[in-house]
Amino acid sequence: MSAAGSLKRLTPSRIRAMKGGAPIVCLTAYTTPMARLLDEHCDLLLVGDSLGMVLYGMESTVSVTLDMMIAHGKAVMRGVTRSCVVVDMPFGSYQETRELAYRNAVRILQETGCDAVKLEGGEEMAETIAFLTARGIPVLGHIGLMPQQVHTAGGYRSVGHSDEEVAKIRRDAEAVGNSGAFAVVIEGTVETLAREMTAAIAVPTIGIGASVACDGQILVSDDMLGLFNDFTPRFVKRYDELGKRVGAAAAAYAGDVRSRAFPTKEHTFKRRS
Ligand code: KIV
Repeated sequence: MSAAGSLKRLTPSRIRAMKGGAPIVCLTAYTTPMARLLDEHCDLLLVGDSLGMVLYGMESTVSVTLDMMIAHGKAVMRGVTRSCVVVDMPFGSYQETRELAYRNAVRILQETGCDAVKLEGGEEMAETIAFLTARGIPVLGHIGLMPQQVHTAGGYRSVGHSDEEVAKIRRDAEAVGNSGAFAVVIEGTVETLAREMTAAIAVPTIGIGASVACDGQILVSDDMLGLFNDFTPRFVKRYDELGKRVGAAAAAYAGDVRSRAFPTKEHTFKRRS
């Protein structure tokens, strides 16, 4: 990415300034070709640690490593000219101390050239976010359903159903909203609460399973394209069934190979005379 190219990308500050305006369009991307396809349609592309499940067949995001995130962050950066690119900090790379978070966030920014990092956590991570942002690292927060906490949360389930959960999310939104984060992802959270939090905090909320009330929306691209079919959360809208189309194309190819209908002359080299 040239210096001129990076200047054309939407910056975290521009995303921050979109609060209350036109909805912010976000999707995940993990590879160069997919980033190229999505870039012109999006404001923000997230190299999410969901790649552990979507690309690598892991059972959760807990096993994703910093090196994996950096490799995919670099790949996405090669395909983007317009969108703000955010790379997820994986489990274990930021929770222990704010100094560890700083060192790993610096690695992500320096080695990928991305615009910001994302980390999961509410009031317990607000001090770390403030530490990073005060030292030049733009941070996207992530509250509500936090997939990296699957083992302590006892599974993936929407939140905001009990008085305790409502009180916790209010505290989380206030703490992360005031921490210096340029925006906050709210995942799997009941509509009334997502609406209340969007009105309450000064930075944009990016919803995933958190209703139309948020300032922007994000989905895992492979979910909305029908490429990842292991499990489809109720909040996903399918815009295509690419998984079925890939299967049909592979079946047609296999039939052609077995019947010797492929390759034909047009796919075959002849010796030049
Ligand atoms: O990892 C990811 O893709 C995410 C989005 C679902 C927000 O965190």
